Amino acid sequence: MSSLSFSTATVELLSTADIEAVVEIERLSNSHPWTERNFHDALASGYLCLIARDHGAVSGFAVARLLVDEAELLLIAVTPAMRRQGVALLLWIELAERLQGSGARTVHLEVRESNLSAQAFYRTRGFAQSGVRPKYYPNGTRDSEREDAVLMQVLL
Ligand SMILES: CC(C)(COP(=O)(O)OP(=O)(O)OC[C@H]1O[C@@H](n2cnc3c(N)ncnc32)[C@H](O)[C@@H]1OP(=O)(O)O)[C@@H](O)C(=O)NCCC(=O)NCCS
Repeated sequence: MSSLSFSTATVELLSTADIEAVVEIERLSNSHPWTERNFHDALASGYLCLIARDHGAVSGFAVARLLVDEAELLLIAVTPAMRRQGVALLLWIELAERLQGSGARTVHLEVRESNLSAQAFYRTRGFAQSGVRPKYYPNGTRDSEREDAVLMQVLL
């Protein structure tokens, strides 16, 4: 497979040996994180799962699924200490190239309304808001507290 280099990081396909490291980044990055099982299921379902590796350690990951010519970016996260160093950018470049190569014409995603850093990142990649899904995300422990999802989309 091809691998892109940026600074000291490289991007490669996720293998089961790296799921534990990915789950740890996910835990540090999301209030309702995917579990190890979710990542195993994603691999078994043929989702595109990429990791960035830096000095041997996993520094970020991204998961997308493709349905005919539409892809959905399900997850992207970078370990907190490695943020703002271009790791997500590197993951996105490889992800978009692979999705396009598999026939994707658009990529869409959902992001918490309060997650302004992720929205800022997506805008740098050409994503624009395409809608809002009211009260989509659980928020806190009470079911009544829910947060809107901002829908974003980009043409590849
Ligand atoms: C969103 C996230 C993946 C970005 O990862 P990253 O590796 O820090 O992003 P990059 O360094 O590649 O950023 C590229 C550009 O995106 C924009 N950007 C990234 N993070 C930003 C932030 N916190 N605030 C404003 N702009 C930001 C900037 O323009 C940045 O370029 P610059 O650093 O030269 O200004 C990371 O903040 C993260 O893991 N967040 C927690 C998980 C998450 O929210 N995932 C998305 C769920 S939908």
